[in-house]
Amino acid sequence: MPHKQLDSPSIVVLISGSGSNLQAIIDGIEAGNIAAKITAVISNKQGVQGLVRAEKHGIANYVLDHTKHTDREDYDQALKNLIDQHNPDLIILAGFMRILTDSFVQHYHGKMLNIHPSLLPKFKGLHTHRRAIEAKETEHGCSVHFVTPELDGGPIIAQRKVAIAKDDTETTLATKIQKEEHVLYPLCTKLFAEGRLLLTNSGPTLDGITIIEGGLDLTDTNEL
Ligand code: GAR
Repeated sequence: MPHKQLDSPSIVVLISGSGSNLQAIIDGIEAGNIAAKITAVISNKQGVQGLVRAEKHGIANYVLDHTKHTDREDYDQALKNLIDQHNPDLIILAGFMRILTDSFVQHYHGKMLNIHPSLLPKFKGLHTHRRAIEAKETEHGCSVHFVTPELDGGPIIAQRKVAIAKDDTETTLATKIQKEEHVLYPLCTKLFAEGRLLLTNSGPTLDGITIIEGGLDLTDTNEL
């Protein structure tokens, strides 16, 4: 079922670190490119740069420390309670480095996005840049997908690609990929906020058209 055109939809962003993707989305909102508001930023780690970014932009921010919870179910229940206090239309995982329980993921079916630093379905999990170099890949990239219980396995919405140069290291490649992420994630957020991007029973759709398996290649697309 298509959701209605959302009236300035609200977003909760989950982070664990530097929050550069959070920043790219804040910038997109403040520039008027994304018709949405971020109502809360939640980190599972204290003292991270992403919390400073939220504070600087006047966004409510919280630390929900996973080490203070007995197990994954207990943590995810607390996280769900905190998120739902804000009644968001969209949940954005922006470098949130936690495996989520199935019930948590199902609770936000069709309204939770993740960005992953690889051309999924290649290189799910960690150390994606190192693994892409070791595998002698000639290209690498980033993917935005709807979150489902399978880790990094949800339906892919869109990707941006970069060429791997002979002298690329894990660090140089990470820098290149992050630059692409900072275009791709705001773009996908904007599409969702405008009600143009949906997860249907037959997969993700953009403007009512089913997105091809593997996602849209938005490598050369800066606006949609
Ligand atoms: C991003 O590169 C994102 O793709 C990655 O964490 C980084 C967070 O950076 N996410 C994952 O690896 C999730 N599997 P940021 O905190 O600067 O946005």
